[in-house]
Amino acid sequence: MPALANKTYFNYGGQGPLPSPSLAAITESWQCIQELGPFTGSIWPWLAAQTQGVRGDLAAICGVPPHRLALTENVSSGCVLPLWGLPWQGGDELLISDCEHPGVVAACRELAHREGLKLSTLAVGSIRSVSGEATDAAVLDALEQALSPHTRLVVLSHLLWNTGLVMPIEAVARRLEHHPRHPWLLVDAAQSVGSLPVAAAASAADIYAFTGHKWCCGPEGLGGVALSERILNASRPTLGGWRSLTNENDAGLDGPGGGHDPWHHDGRRFEVATSCAPLMAGLRCSLELLDAVGGAPARLALIRERSSQLWLGLQAIPGLKALLQEPPPAGLVSFELECEGRGHTPASLVEKLGEQGVWLRSLDDPHCLRACTHLTTTSEEVEQLLAALSSLLE
Ligand SMILES: Cc1ncc(COP(=O)(O)O)c(C=O)c1O
Repeated sequence: MPALANKTYFNYGGQGPLPSPSLAAITESWQCIQELGPFTGSIWPWLAAQTQGVRGDLAAICGVPPHRLALTENVSSGCVLPLWGLPWQGGDELLISDCEHPGVVAACRELAHREGLKLSTLAVGSIRSVSGEATDAAVLDALEQALSPHTRLVVLSHLLWNTGLVMPIEAVARRLEHHPRHPWLLVDAAQSVGSLPVAAAASAADIYAFTGHKWCCGPEGLGGVALSERILNASRPTLGGWRSLTNENDAGLDGPGGGHDPWHHDGRRFEVATSCAPLMAGLRCSLELLDAVGGAPARLALIRERSSQLWLGLQAIPGLKALLQEPPPAGLVSFELECEGRGHTPASLVEKLGEQGVWLRSLDDPHCLRACTHLTTTSEEVEQLLAALSSLLE
């Protein structure tokens, strides 16, 4: 991984580094497109095989059949494209957790503005206990308090990008089944795909949107969204284009006054048009490299070894406080400055660490620093970060 050769990297939750073999696979794929095509009879079967391959891989990760998987460009478009096509009624309520990404929250707010919907908040940000049962009970309790007869959609990330807690998505989905309106469940999977086993959650959610460029260490620009059958039935294409059509030459015009439904009724109804095909080879290569390390549970255990080491080390540094009360359930380790008055802020510490070639990030809410550990994180790197933090705070 060229990105790791010259720095100590803890920003996997922002973007994963691209392995050299994935970069080579992208270049090779681009070469192949030029040799076969770019727009010839020879390229289409090749392109169809590439697309089918990556769709199958991503569907398998999500535990859904391939027809329920739409290829997207990133997490945000995977959330927004199916969401905006749903049949809303004025007064419907969108229940959004207080730990969602600003881009997704803003898209929900804009939707509410256009459709006359109400917004309400699911309070999960103050939950700091890691033990599975206590977290799950606290989330379900918060859900119980926040649901109303008008709730039509719940937005909840699988792995919270700020506190680093794993949400009980299957249990939330089961609870929503018993609500009279059976609200749709939109799950932001930006931090979970590539770091956790996700099949059970992804197949229980209605919209489970992820990207290849974070924990999967694929190239930026290619992600996916797993969709429930009821979303495929209810949601209309929002940014339709030729790839959303069952026949790319047929827009559905059937003579004067008439017409037929031209859209795909599977995940492809949310795919749009020409996109960057070589990225598929890059992502598939990165997924193979992850699989070579082990299955998702084994990989999570390795990720947690390093995040626990970091969490434990943080306990010994005066002035720092890990957000979670126990070692994290995955690879996100967030920690606050206990006394910001001493001239340090999360942003200033991030900058100073960056000057030493150690890269993590700050977050605004809660105001903290976040370091991510992945399979490539070494014990020495964690010690280096801890030593750098200690010396900066002395
Ligand atoms: C939780 C979460 N959601 C959404 C996003 C946006 O991701 P993308 O740029 O792939 O849409 C991010 C990116 O950091 C994220 O962490």
